[in-house]
This record gives sequence, C-alpha cells and structure tokens, in this order.
Amino acid sequence: MRKMMIAGNWKMHNDNAQAQQLANQIKIKTTAETNVEIVVCPTFTALSVVNDILKGSHVILGAQNMFWEAQGAYTGEISASMLKSCGVRYVILGHSERRQYFGETDETVNKRLRAVLENGLKAIVCVGETLEEREAGRAREVIDRQINGAFAGIDAAAFSAIVVAYEPVWAIGTGKTASPEQAQEIHAHLRQRIEERYGADTASALRILYGGSVKPANARELLSQPDLDGALVGGACLKAETFVPIIQTAGELSA
Ligand code: 13P
Repeated sequence: MRKMMIAGNWKMHNDNAQAQQLANQIKIKTTAETNVEIVVCPTFTALSVVNDILKGSHVILGAQNMFWEAQGAYTGEISASMLKSCGVRYVILGHSERRQYFGETDETVNKRLRAVLENGLKAIVCVGETLEEREAGRAREVIDRQINGAFAGIDAAAFSAIVVAYEPVWAIGTGKTASPEQAQEIHAHLRQRIEERYGADTASALRILYGGSVKPANARELLSQPDLDGALVGGACLKAETFVPIIQTAGELSA
C-alpha cells in the first residue's frame, strides 16, 4: 500500500518571516495526519528557518532544485551537502517552470537525479505536457521522452528514493485542473511504462503525485483515483487554510 504524499511547492514566495509563520501553522494543524507524508519545499533562503520550525514534527523539508556538482565555481548554485546541512530530504527536479524559464532539459534532470540519489536524498521528478502537445495528441509521447531521459541509467533499486509528479503544464497556476479521468489516464500510463522497464514490484510501489491547480474543492475526486498517490500543490499550499484541508482529505482517503 502506497502512503499518500502531499507536497507543497512554495515556488518564489515567502520571505523568512512569512515562511516561519506558514511552516508553524502547517506543523500545528497536521499533528494528527500521521498516515500522510507531508513535504514543504520553501525557497533556498528559507530552508534553515523552516527546518528549525519543523524539528520534532513529521512534516518533511524539501527543496525546489539542486545542482549536480559537489562544490566549485558555480555561481548561484546549491549542492546536495548544502541542502542536507539545512535538513532537506526531498528535492523537486525538472519542474516545468525550470524547464520553461531556466533551460532545464531531460539530460540535466537526469544529472541532478543521479546526484540526489548518490547523496542519499530523495527526488520528486516532475513531468508533464504543454497544452499544444496535448492538443496535438502527443501527451503520452512527451511524458515517455521525459521519463526515459530523467531515468537514463537509473536502476530499479533507486526507485525507493523516487517519487514522480505528473504536472500538465496547462493546469499549473491556471485554475484549469486536469479532470480526474485525464489525470488517472496519464498516471496509469506512467505506471505501465515503469512496469515495462523496472518490473511490477517497482511500478506498484512508486508514488505518482498529481500537480496543477489542486485545491481543497477538487482534492477528493482527484486523490480518489486509483493511480493518484498524492499531490504537488502550488498556489493552495501558500496558506495553511487551503493546504491543510488537502492533507486532511488525503488522510481520510488513506484511513
Ligand atoms: P498550482 O497548484 O499553483 O497550479 O501549481 C502546481 C505546481 O506547479 C506545483 O509544483
């Protein structure tokens, strides 16, 4: 049985004071939600202060990206050991905003993933098609290319430290959610591809999150789909009043 995960991607929001306040509210309001894995991913600058707040709680700290080199002349980049020293355990990789605005490719996602795994961290690997690709009937093909690229040279054993997030680009920050059926179709496809490549055990243990305009009002119908194992939440994770109900819904569905 896969444990549901609800992860909040704070993107470029919250200075340190705001981050502390939000982390504190999430911590206090989710003490009973022990059957859901809760992850918050603040900006790099807020990782340490949020880590201090989360100590002793079951809310896990994640980062939004990581560079693959251990150290060196890479101005503006952040390494695995730096993230680990802030208490980070998960790293989001290949988010569509990184691909769209910062030149991330399947190849660089793969390099980052290898570094995450070598350093004993866990990854949330994001895939998803644009509206143009969906309308051209190419959604599956795009996702296949993304997972083939991201998982090149990665063996089945590594999947215990990998979570996949399906985030259709057209549903991110648009208020336009994939229907539960659309999401389920791609999640089932993803699991099928993983099964073909890594076997049934790896595929059935893999958690596949959905992301794209998830909010309290649509969380239940999305998370009720058999191949949806949680959510990667953007806008609705910036307030405890909208993030915590999504966690509670996941908790109810896992009971
Ligand atoms: P929204 O929930 O704001 O659509 O963002 C989703 C997302 O990109 C999470 O990584």
